[in-house]
Amino acid sequence: MNSKINELSPDFLQLARIALTGRQQDIQLLLHRTSKKFRNSYPELTDALIALLQESPSKAIPLRKQSESPLPVDLDSRLQLLRIEKSQLEHEPILASKVLEPLKQALSERKNTASLLKHGLLPTKSMLFTGPPGVGKTMAAKWVAEKMEKPLLVLDLAAVMSSFLGRTGNNIRYVLDYAKNTECVLLLDELDAIAKRRDDSSEIGELKRLVTVLLQEIDDWPASGLLIAATNHPNLLDPAIWRRFEIVLEFQNPTEPQIEEFIYALLKEEVKSPQIWCKILSKSFLGKSYSDIERLIILARKSAAINDVPLENKIKDLLIVSDNLSHEERIKLACILVNEKIISQRQAQELTGIARNTIRKKTNKL
Ligand SMILES: Nc1ncnc2c1ncn2[C@@H]1O[C@H](COP(=O)(O)OP(=O)(O)OP(=O)(O)O)[C@@H](O)[C@H]1O
Ligand SMILES: [Mg+2]
Repeated sequence: MNSKINELSPDFLQLARIALTGRQQDIQLLLHRTSKKFRNSYPELTDALIALLQESPSKAIPLRKQSESPLPVDLDSRLQLLRIEKSQLEHEPILASKVLEPLKQALSERKNTASLLKHGLLPTKSMLFTGPPGVGKTMAAKWVAEKMEKPLLVLDLAAVMSSFLGRTGNNIRYVLDYAKNTECVLLLDELDAIAKRRDDSSEIGELKRLVTVLLQEIDDWPASGLLIAATNHPNLLDPAIWRRFEIVLEFQNPTEPQIEEFIYALLKEEVKSPQIWCKILSKSFLGKSYSDIERLIILARKSAAINDVPLENKIKDLLIVSDNLSHEERIKLACILVNEKIISQRQAQELTGIARNTIRKKTNKL
């Protein structure tokens, strides 16, 4: 008898723990798992459990709608700890397939949760986005939330960390508690803020406690929600935090073809030969982030508007011929610019280092 109790009690305790949180999807999963595990030793219990599961509604309990309850605030300052990202994406993110494919897979798991549960599996519930600034981490989180038709709640850890450290742990708990019971995608932005705050050695104890809070909260995150964290400095993160995430996606600065695609989307309505411009500019912008490129184009647009000149005139100022352009590519570039009457032969020589004579001969041949 005792051995039977010993065998069942860990699962019973786990069930009690999950049941107290009121998350039906997690309870169902545990029951599925338990019934599989005890199929041989307790066949009657297994049959009864399966019958129960089949009777129970398969949908997750309706969680509170985010509009129904006020957002959590810092108890002292009364400042809001979370923000709801409302803006719609103006364009789709351009993502490398090693990032896009796992995201699509995670979305499709969400759509097919019932089939996963039948096999004792859960949809991906946590992802970590790493990469330099301005390459689409926040944008991808928005995109995922849009595809899931859920609001994106953002907790900016850098902002929360700036408050009194002793309060930060509680604040993180409020926020995660709120998000767990709300239909949403939660983004923990600037996750490395926790690791960066090492300015005062007296704070080390507090920081350790904070990391523990965060680990507990991530572990306890329900399968019904999606938790995304983003960081520019993955190497600063405590490896224990890093390991908690089911998927880690590395975002990178755009490659030349990606810059081309991005610039084409930005300029196609505004310049005469967008294909040519994106070819040229993609070489100049190599090494820059999407947001840097977008900023430069917006500045050029503004400057063209103020001076009432065609956008081409201002974009040409953005051309920096990169060192990694071969001699042949420089000639090609000079010819395009001269042929399109974007710059004179002399300016083309200055820009590309190709002698005017060569440019003249080559452009005559075209
Ligand atoms: N992959 C992308 N595809 C298309 N546009 C992008 C992409 N990445 C960034 N952008 C543009 O740059 C803006 C800023 O990007 P985003 O906020 O997603 O960067 P981030 O990676 O979160 O940077 P940070 O680390 O600074 O938070 C976006 O709103 C979008 O206009
Ligand atoms: Mg961001």
